[in-house]
Amino acid sequence: MELLKLTDVSYSYYDGTQALKNINLSVLPGERVAILGANGAGKSTLFQLFNGLLQPSAGEVLFKGLPVVKENYKTIRRSVGMVFQDPDDQLFSATVHQEISYGLLNLGVPKNSLEEQVSWALDVVGLTGYTHKSPSRLSGGEKKRVALATVLAMQPEVLVLDEPTAALDPRGVAQLVDLLNQINQTLHITLVFASHDVDVVPLLADRVVVMNQGEIVFSGTTAEAFDAKEIIRHNKLRLPRIAHLAELLQREDVLACDVLPLTIGQAKAAIKTEVQNARLEGKQNVLAK
Ligand SMILES: Nc1ncnc2c1ncn2[C@@H]1O[C@H](COP(=O)(O)OP(=O)(O)OP(=O)(O)O)[C@@H](O)[C@H]1O
Ligand SMILES: [Mg+2]
Repeated sequence: MELLKLTDVSYSYYDGTQALKNINLSVLPGERVAILGANGAGKSTLFQLFNGLLQPSAGEVLFKGLPVVKENYKTIRRSVGMVFQDPDDQLFSATVHQEISYGLLNLGVPKNSLEEQVSWALDVVGLTGYTHKSPSRLSGGEKKRVALATVLAMQPEVLVLDEPTAALDPRGVAQLVDLLNQINQTLHITLVFASHDVDVVPLLADRVVVMNQGEIVFSGTTAEAFDAKEIIRHNKLRLPRIAHLAELLQREDVLACDVLPLTIGQAKAAIKTEVQNARLEGKQNVLAK
């Protein structure tokens, strides 16, 4: 069964801005889905419909077949963990410890397992020792990590992340990518994230959904998405840098690959094959002489 299912969903803000138009989207258990699109495309609005922070103006949102309506919020908000684009919208407690415990206390988690879960979540985001700090006094990247820890501590079924890599330092981005993949693989937590960072998309998504002015204009595998040149161009996206380089080399006949490599690992494999083929050809030419 779909974890999230949106049918003919539209959403208009009070000022009349129609942010979402006729959205049909399903997210399956275990998937890693990237939602891409230009500024104002509707990504953050869409996310807020997943756990009922916003109610659709039309259409239906279901979480595991359960309508996302007030009487189901408690169940749904436990299972749909949301990390906001701006951590200041999410953090409100006096200390990091209180911030992470808040949701767990609401769930009635006993004191000793609560402490364990708080320490685990802080350790996972690399903020051990931050328990007594005030979230409002942290750096942007640290706030982002605390926001992630508050949600992780609840061990949701789906993690919805709005711009998860924004404000993180380069090592923080790499660590986050590893962490999210680990969470997906070992805890089977489904990932849905919005990002402008196309370089992380092939590392973190099996499927890409592209939005434009409140509509879904593309849904396909990550490879299909970056192969759809018109979609990339029309939606102010670009190829991951490694794919761009491979494309240039392909155009100059230096690299022949049927499928454009999107990650360093894929590029390494393509280059290795190319070099081995060139060596083989060289040997054959020598033998032929
Ligand atoms: N509270 C609001 N009131 C009125 N209009 C809003 C509100 N929040 C967002 N919008 C509008 O809704 C549309 C979609 O905004 P949204 O924040 O969902 O886009 P986004 O894809 O998340 O963009 P970004 O990449 O900049 O984060 C935009 O036109 C925006 O101006
Ligand atoms: Mg947004």
